[in-house]
Amino acid sequence: METVHCQAASGAYDITVGKGSWQKISEFTGRKLLVRDGNVPNPGIEADGEIVLTPGEQYKTFSAVESICRAAAGLHLTRKDRFIALGGGVTGDLTGFAAAIYMRGVHFIQIPTTLLAMVDASVGGKTAADLPEGKNLIGAFHQPDAVLIDPGFLKTLSFTDLTCGLAEVVKTAVILDGELFEKLEQAGESTILAPDFDTLYPELVKRCCQLKAQVVEADEKELGLRAILNYGHTFGHAVEQKSNFSIPHGAAVAIGMNVAGTLAVTLGSWSADDARRQLELLKKLHLPVTVPVSFSSSELLEVMRSDKKNDASGIRLVLPEKIGKAQTVSGIPEQQMIEALEMCHD
Ligand SMILES: NC(=O)c1ccc[n+]([C@@H]2O[C@H](COP(=O)([O-])OP(=O)(O)OC[C@H]3O[C@@H](n4cnc5c(N)ncnc54)[C@H](O)[C@@H]3O)[C@@H](O)[C@H]2O)c1
Ligand SMILES: [Zn+2]
Repeated sequence: METVHCQAASGAYDITVGKGSWQKISEFTGRKLLVRDGNVPNPGIEADGEIVLTPGEQYKTFSAVESICRAAAGLHLTRKDRFIALGGGVTGDLTGFAAAIYMRGVHFIQIPTTLLAMVDASVGGKTAADLPEGKNLIGAFHQPDAVLIDPGFLKTLSFTDLTCGLAEVVKTAVILDGELFEKLEQAGESTILAPDFDTLYPELVKRCCQLKAQVVEADEKELGLRAILNYGHTFGHAVEQKSNFSIPHGAAVAIGMNVAGTLAVTLGSWSADDARRQLELLKKLHLPVTVPVSFSSSELLEVMRSDKKNDASGIRLVLPEKIGKAQTVSGIPEQQMIEALEMCHD
């Protein structure tokens, strides 16, 4: 069992990675409400009450948050008690949001069961629900008091959900860790895609958690540095939205990274060789890399213009400088973004 510490400004906690780490839940006192994704069986967590969420992003609603709070009220839970999220990013975001507002804030613990939630969503304290007007439009910063990661949960994950999680691992490597990138490059396709849950995956998860924890420690509320975690996400969100969410998030991020990488090469800020390495790694992981030709670049730009991370100088993007280092930039002429999108058409 390995531990990564996250010392966020609003709260410090341990992230434990290893087989059976969820059993540490018994070390926490107080009463517990288990919030469980309907596709994830309870491995044996003892709780005072349980609420099962209908799986799917379309159920990441305020009404789900209300159901969690009402289940807690039904059990007369107090501020000394805890919510436990067992599921992917949707369950973690909803449970964290409910924990942030129930009685003005109760403790919660993350037990992520998808790769995406293990390497990204469960760490850092961003919690949210969607509105019909847009994804993650309501939420709160609320840190968990522990993150318990057992890579064994990944055994039942679908191939698509696994590769989508790997897209976020590639993202983390490109922006922050050249060695992690090399590890992914060197790992045989069969080792990574028919995953080895005892050695490779615990290592990948632990490294991503360390890197995310460092970013969150430096900038919990995304006033600066934390924005680099959005690498591939500005072009990616536009593609995801334009596909009416038929292209899953991680797949859209993979496409977005290829477009951002292509743009960085044309701007002269990234080498063509690094861009090629990124492209080859994404392809090895069976991730898509091209923008469907039916998606008009001007419509994609339109979506990107309404991104909540933009500033007065226009669309803000994260662009790589070398493998393991990236920066946030704005003020890039839109025509150059259009050209990069078109260079990545399928
Ligand atoms: N808070 C953050 O910082 C942050 C960061 C990234 C993403 N997110 C959010 O995370 C969400 C995406 O997370 P996700 O990809 O985990 O999606 P998800 O929670 O919808 O899970 C994906 C699918 O896998 C199923 N599933 C979960 N665990 C399983 C298991 N062990 N075996 C089999 N099936 C399992 C789920 O039922 C679901 O169908 C988005 O809503 C996104 O906004 C949040
Ligand atoms: Zn993402």
